[in-house]
Amino acid sequence: MKFTSALFLSSVIYAVAATRNSNGCNQNNCYRAVKADNFPTRPGTADCSSFLSTTVEQKTSTEINEGVKTIVTYYETTIPTHIPAYASPCSDSPAKYSSACSCIGVTPVTTVIIPTCGPGTLSCNNGPCQDVLSDPYNCGACGNTCESGTCINGQCSVPSCDGSSCGSLNGCGADCFCFKEASGKGFCGPNVSCAPLKDCNANSDCDIGEVCAISTCCSRNVCLNSCALTRRSLASNFVGSRDVNAGWTGGAPPPALF
Ligand SMILES: *[C@@H]1O[C@H](CO)[C@@H](O)[C@H](O)[C@H]1NC(C)=O
Repeated sequence: MKFTSALFLSSVIYAVAATRNSNGCNQNNCYRAVKADNFPTRPGTADCSSFLSTTVEQKTSTEINEGVKTIVTYYETTIPTHIPAYASPCSDSPAKYSSACSCIGVTPVTTVIIPTCGPGTLSCNNGPCQDVLSDPYNCGACGNTCESGTCINGQCSVPSCDGSSCGSLNGCGADCFCFKEASGKGFCGPNVSCAPLKDCNANSDCDIGEVCAISTCCSRNVCLNSCALTRRSLASNFVGSRDVNAGWTGGAPPPALF
């Protein structure tokens, strides 16, 4: 009984003492519970800091309309709502708790989270990170659209290049040939020296924009970039020989016949 009346009495005092101080702060029960100088175990300031921390996260969604891709950037805001139990006089109103928090000197903080681009993604024009490994609209580079609609490890596949092999390579432009990449699709690659090319087993072993070429005249699978599509011309058949030691991806031309 004594306990009950003491509680009753203190709440009457609190209710009477709800005045404003010179800062315009409401000296109400909520404020007292948050301030609670006599409860050093209450993490009032820390709890207020979390409550007043708004997080704004940049997100993206993709829309494709009639083959035109638009990346829409939007922001997702997270506002904390948890009011600690000791601040129960504030629990009916987040605004009351915020106000009490401001009155103990905690200022609201807004953190904007912009994702940093991970492997295989690029930010185009300071925009959000986009997949450039398999996105046929941004294949290997921002805005590089694949005519074929297929982007493999950041390189456009070329369907008309149906993956020819050393010894019977189809040409696809000046000094370019239709090779096969690791998944079996054709791509148009340059005739370059094998020596500096990286070894590979899968497209993922290669840098963005390169694929693992499995049908060149090099004696091993090599990471190879693509010939620009504009360099493609009518295919010309070339019969070369596999050069095991040094060699070029396209091999050497056949010896002249006399
Ligand atoms: C590839 O380039 C090398 C070096 O220039 C050249 O010897 C070879 O003939 C080329 N291969 C083809 C098929 O054009």
